Amino acid sequence: MIRDVRIKPILNSRGNQTVCAEIITETGSYFANAPSGKSKGEYEVKDLPFAKIKKLFPIVRKNIVGVDEKEWCLVDDRLESMGLNKIGGNLSIALSIAAVRAAGEGEAVDALGGAKSFPYLLGNVLGGGAHGGSLSIQEILVIPAKAKDVATAAKTNFAIWRAVGSELKNHGTVGNNDEGAWTADVNELEALGIVAGVAKKFGARIGVDVAAGELYKNGKYHWPSLGKTLNKSQQMDMILNLIKEFKLVYVEDPFIETDWESFRELTKRTKILICGDDLFATHPERLKIGVSKKAARATIIKPDQCGLVSKALRSIDIAREGNIVHVVSHRSGETLDPFIADLAVATGAPLLKAGVSGIERVAKANRLIELWNKVKKPRMTKLRL
Ligand code: PGA
Ligand code: ZN
Repeated sequence: MIRDVRIKPILNSRGNQTVCAEIITETGSYFANAPSGKSKGEYEVKDLPFAKIKKLFPIVRKNIVGVDEKEWCLVDDRLESMGLNKIGGNLSIALSIAAVRAAGEGEAVDALGGAKSFPYLLGNVLGGGAHGGSLSIQEILVIPAKAKDVATAAKTNFAIWRAVGSELKNHGTVGNNDEGAWTADVNELEALGIVAGVAKKFGARIGVDVAAGELYKNGKYHWPSLGKTLNKSQQMDMILNLIKEFKLVYVEDPFIETDWESFRELTKRTKILICGDDLFATHPERLKIGVSKKAARATIIKPDQCGLVSKALRSIDIAREGNIVHVVSHRSGETLDPFIADLAVATGAPLLKAGVSGIERVAKANRLIELWNKVKKPRMTKLRL
């Protein structure tokens, strides 16, 4: 039985306040931290500042104390019945994850049904957009597709990240952004050229997160790095050209989240993984629309977008039934909480997008390695690129 529930404010990797939740049962104390996004979609559950959460927390606490912790979905039901936007998505996801951990006596993966198979790592090596950097698009990503285990995958991504950093030495001021990706004075064409060259040496594939919602103003997509302003058909051509020129295997959010038609057309015109992040916002109802419209071949799963682990699992089920690859993902503002690694392993996610550099990103890779060593016959999830 859940004996008590507590919360405290802690800092995330950006130095901003986030929620740490604690659920206390007869077997122990179980903690979870809420991640925090910066390039958020309009369909995400809204977070609340900690000061507000603190005021409303006594009612939330009262609703959860007494629940049988093995029935962690009941905690989610109680949270949902209070209205996730009213109590804050950051509070609800921290409590929901803590409840899963309590049910598994510390092992979230067990409460979620046990380890299935292990994801490939999708790592951000060079960035821009809302996370900082001269690129208009948000992320250039690498997938160490030849790795046969998660430790090799993590090591390879780090080696690529390091090599990209060396290649950038003659490209102005070099730094790192919110997700630990490199920033430099380069535009998309130069940056993709550099990453493609390095990735090839490591047998890795590459992709991008356009985060197009951040480029969109007054009906047009603005690419200041390339001095271009594009309407939606020009945006389509731009994305198709980038896919062709740099052999991209993954493109996330190439259009704004309301433009189902462009997503659908792009998915039809290419065979690669067109992925919806802000498009789906991990909401089961939006995934259902996506499946029926054939709007994408992949979806990002960020449990905090929908505010509850049980809801994220429903989205994953819908994606699987609809033949959509689910990509479990971190946020740009992270903590050491590695829950997304458990979720990826328990649901057999083909990809885990967890960044490369920064101890808050490494924590997810390390959790994968820990689970890999615990499982009897671990195997990578099948992924065709
Ligand atoms: P966010 O960005 O966590 O800052 O929202 C991540 C993403 O768009 O994939
Ligand atoms: Zn994204």
